[in-house]
Amino acid sequence: MGGHERVAALAAGLAGERVDHRFKGLPPDADGLTVGELAAQRRGLFDGGFTTPVLVLSEAALGHNLDLLERYAQEHGLSFAPHGKTSMAPQLFARQLERGAWGITVAVPHQARVCREFGVSRIFLANEVVDPAALRWIGGQLDADPDLTFVTYVDSVRGVELMDTALREAGTRRALDVVVELAAGEGARTGARTEADCAAVAEAVAGAPSLRLVGVAGYEGEVPDADPGRVAAWLRRLVALAAGLDAAGRFGSAEEIVISAGGSAWFDVVAEVLAEVPALSRPVRKLLRSGAYVTHDDDHYRRITPFNRVPEEGSLEPAFRLWAQVVSRPSPTQAFLNAGKRDAAYDLGLPSVRAVRGGDAAGLTVTALSDQHTWLSVPPDHPLAVGDWVALGLSHPCTTFDKWPLIPVTAPDATVTDYIRTFF
Ligand SMILES: Cc1ncc(COP(=O)(O)O)c(C=O)c1O
Repeated sequence: MGGHERVAALAAGLAGERVDHRFKGLPPDADGLTVGELAAQRRGLFDGGFTTPVLVLSEAALGHNLDLLERYAQEHGLSFAPHGKTSMAPQLFARQLERGAWGITVAVPHQARVCREFGVSRIFLANEVVDPAALRWIGGQLDADPDLTFVTYVDSVRGVELMDTALREAGTRRALDVVVELAAGEGARTGARTEADCAAVAEAVAGAPSLRLVGVAGYEGEVPDADPGRVAAWLRRLVALAAGLDAAGRFGSAEEIVISAGGSAWFDVVAEVLAEVPALSRPVRKLLRSGAYVTHDDDHYRRITPFNRVPEEGSLEPAFRLWAQVVSRPSPTQAFLNAGKRDAAYDLGLPSVRAVRGGDAAGLTVTALSDQHTWLSVPPDHPLAVGDWVALGLSHPCTTFDKWPLIPVTAPDATVTDYIRTFF
């Protein structure tokens, strides 16, 4: 069994886990059942014993988003390594790989460990790794599995030296593949600031026997004052950097040259500019890394999605709903729900009221979040009452997934058909 089948089989094993107090929102009377047994009961979200607050994922929205971005990547000649830190959900990794994703992107070695535990054989770690313990582990993985492809960033000569020392001290036999990270501009996040800095890093890699330069990468989501023109200009710098390093013979023994960019805000511009990559000395793998698309959201990503610019190519659907209950209606204009910062993402804006079960959501506005309460402003004559179930839309995906270790997946009629396990 190879590739995505193995990941799918290992992720399917999560259905054997026992339901208990670790998983908030799940029915207390399901304690002791396995996740698979509970899923087979196909309980209703509203009458199946679930407790509020409870986060759910729409199966239809999830399937739609997974299909759409895989198709988008294929149609634009891009390989896809969706960012796994969004969900940290091996069941979703499996579905992304099943649909043709090349591999999974992660941000830190721990996330790569989760991927390896679930059989992912191509990992793109979009960060520099400089701690010897993590490098020892990566080296061990490379030596133990000849089929493993593991690529990580380098953005400084010192980083290259630390990596090379750690890998050599660990006795790693296979070289670790690295890509030079080009910063998205002055004042942006990580990444070597100039082409000259990148060339110096590439030279350092050439002198580091434990490393092999296979490409260039960066994150256009960090371009300062981003607009389509600035993002395209930075992407052209990235492509030119790859061509320059190639002309200088820096990709030595690499079988292919990786050029990687792309989150969920600018993949249209990434597709457009990477379509212009000139012929290089060997095949080019244009690697897109979008992650947030998988659930999309109700605010930040809804506003910035590339599909607003190219509506003819499709649209993503928000997949999360956080159901909470009114636990207090102390004045005509106030109500409080029992979900708070421990349940809802709030780093990119407050949740929004999307529905009231059996009622009317018009005029209900979230004004603040406490640790365990949502503050609602209510029109004075609104019938909202203690006990009502209210659905919140959230933004953004990473900081939603990270609050929920086991998430019910719902059909349109609110039957819970599956459960998605996340790791932090
Ligand atoms: C380096 C890098 N690549 C890709 C992504 C994925 O972007 P998005 O979350 O918009 O899908 C991120 C997100 O933070 C990132 O930091």
